[in-house]
Amino acid sequence: MNIPRHLAIIMDGNGRWAQSRGLARVKGHERGAETVRDITTFCANHSRIERLTLYAFSTENWKRPKLEVEFLMKLLERWLKNERDVYLANDVRFEAIGDLSRFSDPLQRTIREVEEATLTCKGLTQSLALNYGSRDEIVRAIRRMIAQADPIDEAHLLRALDVSMEVDLLIRTGGDQRLSNFMLLQAAYAELFFTPTLWPDFSTDELQSILTTFERVERRFGGL
Ligand code: IPE
Ligand code: IPE
Ligand code: MG
Repeated sequence: MNIPRHLAIIMDGNGRWAQSRGLARVKGHERGAETVRDITTFCANHSRIERLTLYAFSTENWKRPKLEVEFLMKLLERWLKNERDVYLANDVRFEAIGDLSRFSDPLQRTIREVEEATLTCKGLTQSLALNYGSRDEIVRAIRRMIAQADPIDEAHLLRALDVSMEVDLLIRTGGDQRLSNFMLLQAAYAELFFTPTLWPDFSTDELQSILTTFERVERRFGGL
C-alpha cells in the first residue's frame, strides 16, 4: 500500500473560481488561502505524510497585472502573520522555497520569522513555493554546487535543490494537465493526479479519495 511521504500540489483555479461567481479574481486567492489551511491541517494529522509542498507563486506569475501581483504579496504577508499560531497549534514546520530575494524586505522578514518560529515543529513540513520555478531552482543549485566544489552527481544535485525529497504524489487542481515549471526533477517518478476541481473547492474528502487511489498504484521505478 502506497502512502505519500511527500505530497506536492499545484493549487490552480482561484481566478476562475472567483470569475464564475462574478467576483474579482483576488477573491479566489482569498478563498484559496482557506483551502491551504484545511489541506495543511489534514496532512498534519495524517501520520505518514511528512512533507506538503504547495505551489503558491511561480517565477512566471510576475507577468500578471501589477494589481493582482500586489494583492498576492499583501495576502501572503497577512496570511503568514495570521497562520503562525495555526502552524504551531498543528505542529507544522513552515518553510519557503524559491528565490525569495525578489520579495520586499518586510515580506522576507515575515517569512523568516514564521520559519524560525516553527523550526522545531515535527508533525509536517509545509513548503510553500514562492517565486519558485524548477528551472530557476536548478540554476541556483548548480551555482551552489560550483561554489562548494561539489562532485557533479545525482545525489549532490538533489541535495543542492530547494527541496531534496522526491515527490511521491503530485496533484494539480483546476483542470489543466501540465507542470508549469514545478518540481521537474523531484517529480521524476511521482504519480500525477489532475482534477477539474478549482482550488478553492478542493476538499479533504477529494484529497482522501486521491490518496485511496494512490494506495493501489503499482510504482515500478523502471523495474518489474
Ligand atoms: C492559482 O490560481 C494561484 C496562483 C497562480 C497565484 P490562478 O490565479 O492561476 O487561477 P486561474 O488558473 O486563473 O483560475
Ligand atoms: C501554476 O499556475 C502556478 C501556481 C499554481 C502558483 P498558473 O496558473 O500560473 O499556470 P499556467 O500559466 O496555467 O501554466
Ligand atoms: Mg492558473
